[in-house]
Amino acid sequence: MALETTKNIWHNGKLIAWEKAQIHVMSHVVHYGSSVFEGLRCYAQPSGAAIFRLQDHMRRMLDSAKIYRMPVRYTLDELCAAAVELVESNGVAPCYIRPIAFRGYGEIGVNPLRAPVDVYIANFPWGKYVPGNDGADVCISSWNRLAPNTMPSMAKVGANYMNSQLIRMEAEINGYSEGIALDVNGYLSEGSGENIFLVRDGVLYTTPLANSVLSGITRASVLTIAKAMGIPVVEQALPREMVYICDEAFFSGTAAEVTHLRSVDKILVGDGSMGPVTTAIHKEFFAIVNGIKPDIYDWLTPVRVPVAEPVGA
Ligand SMILES: Cc1ncc(COP(=O)(O)O)c(C=O)c1O
Repeated sequence: MALETTKNIWHNGKLIAWEKAQIHVMSHVVHYGSSVFEGLRCYAQPSGAAIFRLQDHMRRMLDSAKIYRMPVRYTLDELCAAAVELVESNGVAPCYIRPIAFRGYGEIGVNPLRAPVDVYIANFPWGKYVPGNDGADVCISSWNRLAPNTMPSMAKVGANYMNSQLIRMEAEINGYSEGIALDVNGYLSEGSGENIFLVRDGVLYTTPLANSVLSGITRASVLTIAKAMGIPVVEQALPREMVYICDEAFFSGTAAEVTHLRSVDKILVGDGSMGPVTTAIHKEFFAIVNGIKPDIYDWLTPVRVPVAEPVGA
């Protein structure tokens, strides 16, 4: 997907020009993948725009940094204010927001403890992520997700995405939109950049954090919405074959939002169409993020930006 540029990028407390946001090739992150980052969406609203779950995303970035002993010298509130300042200065909505903190330039060797930490936030327009308008055709990957006690999957770090890249490339080369990885024990884990949900007999299932998944903020939102709708929710280890016999399946994620799966390994999920539970959750999710329904969960941070696209459920 080609990157569409905007005017400014936030860097260590200041807005700088997009083209000036550059790093040295000898920065630690380039060699050792030492970055923690986030991905957020800012949605169009009937009267402006709003960032979805800003505090939760910035909190997860600080959590990722803590796991990796990376000192980020900005507080949660400062990072949230920085994202708002950036989005308003660039005047682009809807958009995707990418905060990143990484080990910068000045030290060589694996040990990151004395390498400086740089923080940037960028934003840019970004549309649909998982291809397929009538549902995604996906596969089970031959690659496993990260094993416990190797790379922590609750940390959203650059290095983890080498595993995601293997999953995503293999899927695309074999003609699928996305891959679902199993964990090291052969249980369902998640997509290369999405959590997975299955529905069988009206019960909504998702894989727990112990199956090497990222603690997805959209996943948490889906669970909240489902519980409020009275849909029974089960978080448990799921065998691979559940995806072949479930009635409905969907991905959740900031990029993927709520994307229904039409088939897995060329086996139709249900009759291939978006089923009733997925449809209800999908509708509610978009009604909230697009400001059509009230923000009863306090998920939205308004930003003063004229919207470029009409709001639709
Ligand atoms: C590996 C992985 N799993 C799940 C998700 C979904 O997380 P969220 O809903 O917070 O975007 C993402 C996206 O960040 C991801 O990269």
